[in-house]
Amino acid sequence: MHIGFLHSILRKDEKLLLAEFAKRKNVELEMIDDRKLVFDISQNQLNVDSIIERSINHSRAFHAIRIFESYGIKCFNDGEVARICGDKLLTSIALESQNVPQPKVMVAFTEESALEAIEKIGYPVVLKPAVGSWGRLLSKVNDKDAAEAILEHKAILGSYHHSILYIQKYVEKQGRDIRSFVVGDECIAAIYRTSEHWITNTARGSVVTNCPVTNEIAELSIEAAKAVGGGIVAIDLFETNEGLQVNEVNYTMEFKNSIETTGVNIPAKIVDYVINNTEVR
Ligand SMILES: Nc1ncnc2c1ncn2[C@@H]1O[C@H](COP(=O)(O)OP(=O)(O)OP(=O)(O)O)[C@@H](O)[C@H]1O
Ligand SMILES: [Mg+2]
Repeated sequence: MHIGFLHSILRKDEKLLLAEFAKRKNVELEMIDDRKLVFDISQNQLNVDSIIERSINHSRAFHAIRIFESYGIKCFNDGEVARICGDKLLTSIALESQNVPQPKVMVAFTEESALEAIEKIGYPVVLKPAVGSWGRLLSKVNDKDAAEAILEHKAILGSYHHSILYIQKYVEKQGRDIRSFVVGDECIAAIYRTSEHWITNTARGSVVTNCPVTNEIAELSIEAAKAVGGGIVAIDLFETNEGLQVNEVNYTMEFKNSIETTGVNIPAKIVDYVINNTEVR
């Protein structure tokens, strides 16, 4: 079986996946470096049965997957999952359509209409670029003065991505959120991310501990994964007084800080899933 491994710089996560693939005798891996790749959209230059996508940024990942799929190559994750998970608004729409609980979300395009939406939701709110990650450029807005300032900055200094104002209710989450990992039909593991800062990404130095996968966590995580099209995804969950809510779904999931903490060999589960769902052509 020939599997393509789409990557940019190889992070620890990619190295763990490569080590796991190396243990599988029936797999020949073809490294595909997105920094060197030149695509001919009229002709498939790759001789692989499937591709696992591990690019470092969404735009490269998504466009590369779309081209690979146009060649008829199966990708993990598929292009539709990448499209939806790469955009927080599309994710929220997908969750809403399947009645998956999430914090209140509103969207507006101008300073005035965004301020109206913010005041409708009520302070505090969180403004997020629809496309972005690692907690960058997230703003917690506590009052009208801050709202006006942030909106003016976005309008005058912001790039294209800041012209769509994604506004989410701020959730009191007791200093932590949950990151769960879904591979196919299974929620394989979860962690708590605890921080004194309201942003609890591990990239921002939060403390990671094991979170037992309860039925509620497993069911909601799988529902959220299905809502965006399924595959290999990581779900951010908030614990609220009304039960768990889904914050977002990530499609090129990072897991390096979660293997020892959970005791689950996450890269092995991913590699098994890719192999079991690849048809030799
Ligand atoms: N509405 C909210 N209420 C409370 N905390 C929030 C809210 N939105 C985000 N946060 C905090 O900020 C963190 C980052 O937000 P989010 O996951 O939406 O964006 P991101 O981290 O930039 O995306 P990615 O997980 O893809 O890197 C969350 O893990 C959470 O701790
Ligand atoms: Mg997140």
